[in-house]
Amino acid sequence: MARYKVPRGTKDILPADIRRWRFLERTVRTVMDRFGYEEIRTPVFETTELFTRSIGTDTDIVKKEMYTFEDLKGRSLTLRPEGTAPVARAFIESNMAREKPLAKLFYIGPMFRRERPQKGRYRQFHQFGTEAIGSPESYVDAESIEIFYEILRSLGLDGLSVRLGSVGDGNCRPGYVDSLREYLREHESVMTDDQRERAERNPLRILDSNDENLAPVIAGAPSILDALCDDCAAHLAKVKHYLNQVSIPFTQESSVVRGLDYYTRTVFEIHHDQLGAQSALGGGGRYDRLVSDLGGRETPGVGFAAGMERIITVAEELGIPWEERAGVRLFVAPVDSEAEPGIFPILSTLRKRWFADGNYQTKNLKTVLKHANRARADLLLLVEGSAGGECAVSVKNMKSGEQTTVSLENIIDELEPLAEQALAEAGREEN
Ligand code: HAM
Repeated sequence: MARYKVPRGTKDILPADIRRWRFLERTVRTVMDRFGYEEIRTPVFETTELFTRSIGTDTDIVKKEMYTFEDLKGRSLTLRPEGTAPVARAFIESNMAREKPLAKLFYIGPMFRRERPQKGRYRQFHQFGTEAIGSPESYVDAESIEIFYEILRSLGLDGLSVRLGSVGDGNCRPGYVDSLREYLREHESVMTDDQRERAERNPLRILDSNDENLAPVIAGAPSILDALCDDCAAHLAKVKHYLNQVSIPFTQESSVVRGLDYYTRTVFEIHHDQLGAQSALGGGGRYDRLVSDLGGRETPGVGFAAGMERIITVAEELGIPWEERAGVRLFVAPVDSEAEPGIFPILSTLRKRWFADGNYQTKNLKTVLKHANRARADLLLLVEGSAGGECAVSVKNMKSGEQTTVSLENIIDELEPLAEQALAEAGREEN
């Protein structure tokens, strides 16, 4: 038995799993590129206050899920539980607003929350996401949803449900919060002391409680969608219009409850029914006050983040094949001892162009074929030596069995059409 184990709620991503991760990451990058989003990488830890300020002190994340520690100088640092606050911090700190009116950013990386581990819920998990900072316009909200949807679609996922809502803004939310507080007071008897206190201080947070006892209370609560001011209602109507224009199906829901306090106006989530309780593949929304709350100039923003483990789980459970668009794979083997000294330089030449693996020592053909199959080779290069040191190379197509010879001098050029043919037969494309 292994003496040391991965910490609870974390996982190794082993070579057997990595192809899915790389496929997912590549798809994310391809779609982000097409939409003109640029990658940003921020540190995995930040000043604790960055998160308490932005996510909100009444949220589950800040109250009980952060990995916070003091460094040797007594500064409080926290492993990032999410990516929006760090990106907003970097946006302000690097003065990005000066270069571009609208910064379109994306990220991929690990996040940390001390949650109770279960299916779809880990303590170290990975998100990809976007933050578009600089525009209040509804089309940017719709574009965020479109990018997320497009990535999931490119991954072969269907059965998606896009849930759209609004949490209003500084104009209409306070009035709504008051009426929600009033309503919750009428149902105080089913609440714990803690919930009662929360209902007074931050009643919106009651709406994202998963306490079964509160479910009927939450279901009967007044809807913010009925309380939106004209500007917020018009903003939401435009988001819906743009989504309709690009044929993204969605439902409007008053109960898109996000677990973070920084949202204004648009909020959304994309769910997949395959996941059960933790059905959100991701979510996001608009945060028009976050940048100014963190000390920057007033700058509106919108974005989303997706849970990568959850997306991979759905793809695995539905058996969606995520074929890596890998190039051709070659396997080289000597057929006699005279050929053996030539293998090392041949492999080196081939690797400047393709994947190549091989045997340095002569083995019988059956063993060579076994090794070539294990390397998932498309073409097997059998190298025959001669007393004069010349080598002859015959190429066997592992699928069709077809055999050809190529010259060592022009090996790359002569292999090119054979490689192309092998890829076409396998239905793959080159990277
Ligand atoms: P979030 O809803 O807290 O939003 O997280 C987004 C997604 O991350 C979730 O829907 C879920 O798929 C995944 N996720 C969250 N916690 C875990 C966990 N413990 N284990 C596995 N997956 C998890 C945010 O993080 C916001 N920063 C999104 C955003 C970006 N809003 C605006 N811009």
